[in-house]
Amino acid sequence: MYKILITDHILDDAIKILKKENFEVEYNPEIDKVNLKGKIKDCDGLIIRGRTKIDREILDNAKKLKIIVRAGVGLDNIDLDYCKTKNVKVFNTPLAPINSVAELTICLILSLLRNLYEANKSLKEGKWLKKYFIGFQLKGKTVGIVGFGRIGYEVAKILTCFGCKIIAFDIDISRKKLAEEIGGEFTTDLDYVLSNSDIITIHLPLNSSTYKMFSKDVLKKMKKDSFLINTSRGGIVDEEALLEMLESGHIAGAALDVFENEPPITEVEKRLISHKNVICTPHIGAQTYEALKQESIEAAEIIVKFFNEEIYMIATSTKIDSLKKIAELVKKERKELSVRNLLLKSLENNQIKFKLNKQAAYMKKLSFVTVKEETPLGAIEFKIFSENIKEIIDYIAPLPKIKTLQYRTREFNIEETE
Ligand SMILES: NC(=O)c1ccc[n+]([C@@H]2O[C@H](COP(=O)([O-])OP(=O)(O)OC[C@H]3O[C@@H](n4cnc5c(N)ncnc54)[C@H](O)[C@@H]3O)[C@@H](O)[C@H]2O)c1
Repeated sequence: MYKILITDHILDDAIKILKKENFEVEYNPEIDKVNLKGKIKDCDGLIIRGRTKIDREILDNAKKLKIIVRAGVGLDNIDLDYCKTKNVKVFNTPLAPINSVAELTICLILSLLRNLYEANKSLKEGKWLKKYFIGFQLKGKTVGIVGFGRIGYEVAKILTCFGCKIIAFDIDISRKKLAEEIGGEFTTDLDYVLSNSDIITIHLPLNSSTYKMFSKDVLKKMKKDSFLINTSRGGIVDEEALLEMLESGHIAGAALDVFENEPPITEVEKRLISHKNVICTPHIGAQTYEALKQESIEAAEIIVKFFNEEIYMIATSTKIDSLKKIAELVKKERKELSVRNLLLKSLENNQIKFKLNKQAAYMKKLSFVTVKEETPLGAIEFKIFSENIKEIIDYIAPLPKIKTLQYRTREFNIEETE
């Protein structure tokens, strides 16, 4: 049975799917690094979100690990290069958070423009400060979308409905068509976006090319009194430079869902958070029931698909009687073992095709026998899985022109050739 370790909070839906498919599941959503180093030793698969850091030290301890699924998008918490050298496959569920992050971005933009946080807070404190809260309309504003991928595009589509002008910036020029389809402008010139936008919203991945991309020099190029939104990754904006730009009044306000350190720890981060023109949220972009459900289910389904890869076996014979005998044998095995997905797919064109679920075979500790038949077209090899290897060999041995090549014993790892 394959063991799957889940080290971040995901919904129960994922665990149910995995258990139904007979995986052993350990849900340990707040595990620390020391314990993870121990637990990972006997795991075949891992499901994480953004909290768990998968570095070299962890991967060196992961002796059996074959797959990591990141429920969500960002892969910046995983040492992808080292995973490659260890032959650990990495997947994510990039579609799940799109709408939730896009909606939070819109929510933050509107909140910034209308002083929503301060207006709400002051009224709750018993103050009626109506005359101080004069904000801005969103309609007619130019919004620069930096990183016009899945989320950036979704944000742009919604903003178009608000009557905004869109300038999309991306290094991938194939995104130009999408920008133009929604009536936006596309550019690969960052300075152009910065100097022409009333609002800049960042939707980039964090990598070596984007780390601190919004440096002091870049922030200075933003229009005076413009707004900055970041719901992508904290490290992309130089926090100290942003604080300086807010304090000098060059940038009118910022909304941040992400920080270089999460939770924020530095003095600069604390000052940013408490700045009167900053609205901030604790990385809640994908924290909706819908996104969590979708990413949990997708993550579990990726694991199931990965381990339950279906194996097709094709037996071909010029003698239909040989095939019928093999077909009967497989049918019998299916009945006795009740192995799911063991199907006799066809008996036509002198061919039979079986479909077997790898995990089911593994769980049943099935052995297989590889047989070879000499045909006028050359030798054809195929495998038959069974719990009773001897019975199969006995069945096949008298069949004309079919000879047993090799078989594997129950342990599945000892290979013997006749
Ligand atoms: N706040 C949250 O909770 C939350 C949730 C999900 C995703 N995110 C973050 O949102 C970001 C965007 O996600 P996505 O699904 O839209 O990703 P995506 O890969 O679809 O889009 C990213 C885009 O950025 C472009 N890009 C990459 N490097 C660039 C560079 N140096 N200059 C210009 N363009 C560049 C890519 O070509 C791509 O089009 C990611 O950082 C992701 O981690 C945040």
